[in-house]
Amino acid sequence: MSGPPDGERLGQGAGALAPRAWAASDAPSLDLSGDWRFRLSPRADAGTGFADPAFDDAGWATLPVPSHWQLHGYGAPAYTNVRYPFPVDPPHVPDENPTGDYRLRFRLPAGWDAERTVLRFEGADSSLRVWLNGQELGSSTGSRLPAEFDATAALTAPGQDNLVAARVQQWSAASYLEDQDMWWLSGIFREVRLLARPAGGIDDHFVHAGYDHETGAGTLRVDADVPARVTVPELGVDAAAGETVRIPAVAPWSAESPRLYDGQLATATERVALRIGFRTVAVAGGVLTVNGRRVLFRGANRHEFHPDRGRAVGEDVMAADVVAMKRHNLNAVRTSHYPPHPRFLELCDTYGLYVVDECDLETHGFEPLGWRGNPADDPRWRDALVDRMARMVERDKNRPSVVMWSLGNESGRGRNLAAMAGWARRRDPSRPLHYEGDWSCPDVDVYSRMYPTHAEVDRIGRRQEAPLDDPGLDARRRAMPFILCEYGHAMGNGPGGLWEYQELFERHERCQGGFVWEWIDHGLRARTADGREYFAYGGDFGEPLHDGNFVADGLLFPDRTPSPGLAELKKVVEPVRITPDPAGVRVANLHDVRDLSHLSFEWHLEEEGVEIASGHLEVPPLDAGSAATVPLPPLPATTRETWLTIRAVLATDHPWAPAGHEIAWGQVPVTDPGQVVGAVVHSPLTVGPGTSDSPLTVGPGTFDAVTGRLVRVGEIDVDGPVLDLWRAPTDNDQGHHGEALAPVWRRVGLHRLRHRVDGVALEGDALVVRSRVAPAATDLGVAVAYRWSVVEGGLRLEVEVVPEGDWPCPWPRLGLRMAMPAGFGNVEWFGRGPGEAYADTGRAARVGRFAATVAELQTPYLYPQENGNRRDVRWATVDDGGGRGIRFEGEPTFDLTVRPWTSEQLDLARHPTDLVPGDRVWVNLDLAQQGIGSASCGPGVLPAYRLDPAPATLAVRLRPAPAGPTGS
Ligand code: GAL
Repeated sequence: MSGPPDGERLGQGAGALAPRAWAASDAPSLDLSGDWRFRLSPRADAGTGFADPAFDDAGWATLPVPSHWQLHGYGAPAYTNVRYPFPVDPPHVPDENPTGDYRLRFRLPAGWDAERTVLRFEGADSSLRVWLNGQELGSSTGSRLPAEFDATAALTAPGQDNLVAARVQQWSAASYLEDQDMWWLSGIFREVRLLARPAGGIDDHFVHAGYDHETGAGTLRVDADVPARVTVPELGVDAAAGETVRIPAVAPWSAESPRLYDGQLATATERVALRIGFRTVAVAGGVLTVNGRRVLFRGANRHEFHPDRGRAVGEDVMAADVVAMKRHNLNAVRTSHYPPHPRFLELCDTYGLYVVDECDLETHGFEPLGWRGNPADDPRWRDALVDRMARMVERDKNRPSVVMWSLGNESGRGRNLAAMAGWARRRDPSRPLHYEGDWSCPDVDVYSRMYPTHAEVDRIGRRQEAPLDDPGLDARRRAMPFILCEYGHAMGNGPGGLWEYQELFERHERCQGGFVWEWIDHGLRARTADGREYFAYGGDFGEPLHDGNFVADGLLFPDRTPSPGLAELKKVVEPVRITPDPAGVRVANLHDVRDLSHLSFEWHLEEEGVEIASGHLEVPPLDAGSAATVPLPPLPATTRETWLTIRAVLATDHPWAPAGHEIAWGQVPVTDPGQVVGAVVHSPLTVGPGTSDSPLTVGPGTFDAVTGRLVRVGEIDVDGPVLDLWRAPTDNDQGHHGEALAPVWRRVGLHRLRHRVDGVALEGDALVVRSRVAPAATDLGVAVAYRWSVVEGGLRLEVEVVPEGDWPCPWPRLGLRMAMPAGFGNVEWFGRGPGEAYADTGRAARVGRFAATVAELQTPYLYPQENGNRRDVRWATVDDGGGRGIRFEGEPTFDLTVRPWTSEQLDLARHPTDLVPGDRVWVNLDLAQQGIGSASCGPGVLPAYRLDPAPATLAVRLRPAPAGPTGS
């Protein structure tokens, strides 16, 4: 029967059944998940005697199915982004080819009533060969696609033993088609089931459910491979399969309003449950519409990932992802870069997410070779590529959530892509096609790009992009809608600049949103020798070739804790925008479909972050796309800085979030934010003549007379503050695939600045310390003057900074760093929070009063880097929990980071577990930081958020103080 998968049919198996729709049938099935006997061989050429039922597997271990063997102690995970981890010599793969042999004994239950029985594998990575009771059933590739084999002839009667055997190779010719940026993980990683196929059963069906937005009518036709009846009781539908039924009024399906109608497709012997969503997707007038309306994708790219289970994700994980996406205002998901588990798509139907379903195809490793030999353009691979497309479309064609098919990812250009597109169009003309890898768009319906700059998106939005050489293709592309299949690279701290993309999506009809890269960090849970948990990335398993932490670029940490980037995205894409307006507050409904009747609006008045009044705000149930100005409620008078916060929350429980869940918010300043700063109290300065062993005292401050450094505030030992320009570079500063600032910073020496004191002197009512801060080996430097004076109850420090020389780069930060003893572990502040925020990532941070421990202020990015900044802080106290602390006040604000280690230690760490709190707490009071940008893959920091060296002044006050609200 069929040979191994690497035979003549390049990159394909043999003997599998024709692909068909995923279906919820009442025909019996037997789940074969569980512990299978397992053996791993280092090569693929071991004998196949294990397929014989009589083979003695007593010496074998067991492995759960579904799972990846590398996550159960067999071999190790390996990570590469673009490069194949083997010589590129298609279709050959290495002799070192870890090969898993699987065996399972099972019995059919009594009453197994089947004309035929099908053995179905939902996913096996990368090639599969299957035997039943010693007979070979066939072979298959296409790791993230199902394969079915006819098991009828080989099965024993119910109650008797059967032996299913499978061989899975890590590498096969098909590996050349599966070069996605992710861990290489092998094995049977989705379920295996036996399906009884009754005589006269329904093998395949295709639901066509359209919606006419002009009349409100639905049309329904369910095709089936056998005569069958379609019933939808709620709509009074009772029709033959293949018959078109017009329903004069239906509620359409959309991501915002995912209305499904339950129905059934039945023959005398089988019933298939239908969940019908009426919706019509079209590209018309240069715009992509669903049910006649332009949609704006607020999306993320989702890989299937779990930190312990890899891509063997259970329904718990799928549901958690869908719910978290909905709760964070996302309405779309691209299934990068392969069809997900089919249950995930059903959840998208139910909860409401638009899906770009992507074929299991990526040949990116040919790019570094100039695309020589790319399977996408080599006729020998044509059938394998078309087969993959067909298997995805057939499996997922009944999902209303799927609004576009994607041919795959990063596979260059070629004839085989055209063949895939042609096949899909013939089979399913109802869905537009997507593919990013060929910018001339010959095969697709939308123009899609990844990581373009804002400026380019703006040009494309105006349909004024640079023309293609071919005028026909150019005209075709210029008339297409535009989406960003990837943008906002969420690696480490960031991404920055999301808001500016959103503005473009809202400004240009053609720009229909995009999909942030990516949903979750693929860090694998690991432990240090002393048992502390961390998340491993590329190289942590000793891979000779790897791409480090580039695998960790998600909006969720591997344990599914939302990152600050996800909070930011939620705020940026919020479907209701609440902004100050001279006549009150403006509320804009940015939904595609829904009016605002599902939301309740509440207001909270906070004086210096303390709520003093609240109430309900009456907002009309505005239609999608409309806006209104609502008057403010009568507000009590206040004396300190006061903000009105308006929150839009769910008025009722939704399947994905309870009533009260916040969807959107806005803030209106009720007083002038800069206004409430106490006056400077000048007092005559009396200081003793300082020497190296007799310090100077200025108000509550004690200074080293030689270095001019503050050494005590009241009774608290401190060190500093001194000028600080350094931050532990972020992944975006590293600029893996973009503007790389960190190497410039290191070349200049910003990470090894030295401070020279030029003078400590009394000048008028101030103690003035002059200093020059500079790195070795260059004449670049910064002149710094620290001017200390006394204010009521404390000290005032004004710092004047003048750059010297021609700095070739922006500075990482501009501010002050000081140390306090380690016990000072509690921080309270009035400023933006509760989460971290930087100049271009700060939309989610609102003005308020917040408290956190120093430990809680750290964001545990998988690769340690600058994190935890709190913006626009008016005042903050850092205290020891026992009533001692220092209160810092801004004039008017500063940025605050407090951490139990220095930026230099953060910079040296490779995993969060490398960071151990020392005997000090480090406090940064910054005037500014360089923005974050998205240069880990994409554009760098926008001009407005760059911190270019320039003269600057920063003023803060320090008071020995218990934690408390005010200094007055
Ligand atoms: C894209 C690619 C993704 C991922 C991303 C960077 O080019 O499609 O799979 O590699 O870059 O993280």
